[in-house]
Amino acid sequence: MAETLFIPTAANRREIYETLFPQLEALTNGEPDLVANLANVAAALKQAFGFFWVGFYLVKGNELVLGPFQGPVACTRIGFDRGVCGHCYRTRATVIVPDVEQFPGHIACASESKSEIVVPILKDNAVFAVLDVDSDRLNDFDDTDRQGLEKLMRLVEKLV
Ligand code: SME
Repeated sequence: MAETLFIPTAANRREIYETLFPQLEALTNGEPDLVANLANVAAALKQAFGFFWVGFYLVKGNELVLGPFQGPVACTRIGFDRGVCGHCYRTRATVIVPDVEQFPGHIACASESKSEIVVPILKDNAVFAVLDVDSDRLNDFDDTDRQGLEKLMRLVEKLV
């Protein structure tokens, strides 16, 4: 496909997720390089929704290490016992944080971040990486994001 995203204007988030999925499926189809695919997924989410920060942390040894992302520079390494990302790693479940200041142990990479969603990416039944999305608005994520992002991560899992 052409390396251009079609994002419907005046669409709600659910519609944008629905429009995005087949485009990312086409964009990643046949591309074996994981970093290239993760980079395009992060860029597409940033472009489509204008989130403050979108990126991946990959499991390396006994910590999560920063991977492809879009947004301001961020912390490079996160222990499994730390932050929202570590919580997602341990529980292997999506975490929605409506107000990061209320989440014990939240790691503030940027003071602009107000709410956050982290989605696990599994390989052979173990967490391989997590997708982390930060918003500069409080309470910016709900079940629509959970469903849209989890469906996208099932696509990413096929690329791992
Ligand atoms: N807030 C995350 C750290 C990563 S940055 O938000 C990009 C956490 O608490 O794990």
